[in-house]
Amino acid sequence: MFDLFSKKKEDGTRSLIWAHRGASAYAPENSLLAFEKAAELGADGVELDVQLTKDNVLVVTHDEKINRVTDREGFVKDYTYEELLDMNFNAGKKKFGKVKIPTLKEVYELLKPSNLTINVEIKSGVFFYEGIEKMCLDLTREMGLEDRVLYSSFNHYTVKKMKELDSTVKTGLLYADGIIDIASYAKEKTNCDALHPALYNIQYPGYMEEAKKNGLDVNVWTVNEKEYMKMCAKAKVNAIITNYPDVALDIAKKY
Ligand code: G3P
Ligand code: CA
Repeated sequence: MFDLFSKKKEDGTRSLIWAHRGASAYAPENSLLAFEKAAELGADGVELDVQLTKDNVLVVTHDEKINRVTDREGFVKDYTYEELLDMNFNAGKKKFGKVKIPTLKEVYELLKPSNLTINVEIKSGVFFYEGIEKMCLDLTREMGLEDRVLYSSFNHYTVKKMKELDSTVKTGLLYADGIIDIASYAKEKTNCDALHPALYNIQYPGYMEEAKKNGLDVNVWTVNEKEYMKMCAKAKVNAIITNYPDVALDIAKKY
């Protein structure tokens, strides 16, 4: 069912490349332009961040606050979608002019004709966004993209909930710094399919082996330097999540 996630690895070829917030080195992060660019550069997938507006629209933007990526202030959750549409989400990349905040549905519509994997990171760690897990599942189903979407979250209750709501979905457990016995914790507590570690974690001795033993893929973020791209490609991680999908792709093809 989930060929897109593992086919290339099983063939023994290379790590997959997922564009972080789209090809965010080249276009405003989490914008439709960045996702389009990712496809154009040959990425195997994209990673994106989902938050919920005041009127319960799933929107794609990284921070709970709009301050960093727009010229306005406040929390996403305190604005309606219409209000957010007025703002410029160009994330400081001025040459792109006015950039609209995309809904998750718009990203799905854009990428549906492609074969790209979509890693939906649910940003439920600060505000729990009641019902966000089910909303994401319902939308993915409505769009017929069940086989192309993998959900991840730093909120491990959310990771667990996704599987409880639908045992067939693919999930990844996000975390940053060294956690002891992470692979068995992840499997036991959340029944997830993949670890999503900050890249430095794969240097722990036996890391890849432990993940494999627990039946977990390893999808690593955020790998923007060539040295670390090589490290990940050599380790045959399942996916490298990067702002520079073109650079990572060139490197991954060599391993
Ligand atoms: O999903 C990988 C990575 O995006 C997690 O960190 O802060 O960029 O959302 P962040
Ligand atoms: Ca993210």
